[in-house]
Amino acid sequence: MTRILAFAGSLRKDSWNKKLLQEALRLAPESIQFTLLDLKDHPLPLYDADFEAEHGMPENAIELRRLMTEHQGLLIASPEYNGGMTGVLKNTLDWMSRKHGDQRGLDPFMHKPAAVVSASPGPYGGARSVQSAVLLLNRLGCLVLPDGVSVTHCETAFDAEGHLQGKDQKSLQRVVQALGGVALKMGQKAEG
Ligand SMILES: Cc1cc2nc3c(=O)[nH]c(=O)nc-3n(C[C@H](O)[C@H](O)[C@H](O)COP(=O)(O)O)c2cc1C
Repeated sequence: MTRILAFAGSLRKDSWNKKLLQEALRLAPESIQFTLLDLKDHPLPLYDADFEAEHGMPENAIELRRLMTEHQGLLIASPEYNGGMTGVLKNTLDWMSRKHGDQRGLDPFMHKPAAVVSASPGPYGGARSVQSAVLLLNRLGCLVLPDGVSVTHCETAFDAEGHLQGKDQKSLQRVVQALGGVALKMGQKAEG
């Protein structure tokens, strides 16, 4: 089993990007075990170095780092706000990148396969947000796959069951298959 951690950069209950991750889970091969997080269940204060110096790392950030360490890959659905990733996603990754205990800040991310997908009501599907998230994940040390999907006009792209159709479905399936495959190979290499 390859374990993949997945979360969306949206707190919204009816988030399209959360739906996209649900669909990714449905389309994934059985060899992948997903842990799907809702960042609303892991609230974090806005990163503030003074807060960190006084209180240390918040429990939720420690928990997210632990989960990241325990998984072999990362799948992020990145909504687009004003041409980039959301503040929620950036803030979460900023907290997760901080040094904690004996671990260096970037240890949980280093050489971990990752993929970024997006959905938006707009004509570009959040593709610019994907670009910004890819840059950040590369900076954190992840190996970001070239495969991705940005679902355009998402209000009409999902059917009543929340399933994608045609090209979008195929692209998303390719992303999860590629991510699972790379994570598995890298895990085997690390063990061998
Ligand atoms: C502050 C703000 C800025 C936005 N900017 C963009 C944008 O640049 N491009 C885009 O495609 N959608 C933009 N949107 C629309 C979002 O894509 C839309 O709200 C989407 O549903 C957010 O993702 P979610 O459904 O996963 O929460 C923006 C929305 C907000 C609230």
